Amino acid sequence: MKIIAIAAVGRNGVIGRGSELPWDIPEDMKFFRDSTRGQIVLMGRKTYDSLGKALPARRNAVITRNTSWSVPDAEVYSDLPSALKALKPVALSEGKTIFVIGGAEIYSLSLPFLDEVWLTEIDSDFEGDVFFPLYREGRFEAAGFVKGGVREQSDSVSPFHYRFCVYQRSA
Ligand SMILES: NC(=O)c1ccc[n+]([C@@H]2O[C@H](COP(=O)([O-])OP(=O)(O)OC[C@H]3O[C@@H](n4cnc5c(N)ncnc54)[C@H](OP(=O)(O)O)[C@@H]3O)[C@@H](O)[C@H]2O)c1
Repeated sequence: MKIIAIAAVGRNGVIGRGSELPWDIPEDMKFFRDSTRGQIVLMGRKTYDSLGKALPARRNAVITRNTSWSVPDAEVYSDLPSALKALKPVALSEGKTIFVIGGAEIYSLSLPFLDEVWLTEIDSDFEGDVFFPLYREGRFEAAGFVKGGVREQSDSVSPFHYRFCVYQRSA
């Protein structure tokens, strides 16, 4: 059972602008969907709001401090430890991965618990006000690339170059 943060990040660390993603990269959305389908996704309340609904074909969990907040299509937890306490046995018994899907606040909270970080690293700087938290301070090391070793991607819609990178917790 692994806990993996998955994010797309600009060269300057930007992951969001307001409640939106600063880019449109269909191939990365497909990678995200394919990676998380059938698994457990854990997110902050603002990311849930920006999605507008739970992601289909996944168990969705949301973290909020607001004890009266609820939605019909996701489990709600008031802190990360209680979310992990509930979700880890499910992941273990069902052979699933817990994917932490953002945003910045929840990536930060989850850093001590992560086994891996999967980053789509985009070779462009973006304007934005939400940044990926520091993860390269000795806690994680580069461990290659997801997607069968594909290192560089671009697609017909977006002008960006990007790589699907894996970082593992250092021993
Ligand atoms: N590039 C990517 O891969 C990616 C992925 C996901 C999101 N994003 C972007 O990230 C941005 C949203 O990120 P964000 O950091 O602003 O918000 P967020 O992490 O999605 O959610 C923050 C919310 O989580 C709850 N929360 C935070 N700490 C908590 C704690 N210790 N205990 C309980 N609840 C806690 C609070 O909800 P309440 O206020 O309800 O208490 C808080 O407002 C958007 O721009 C989105 O587009 C980018």
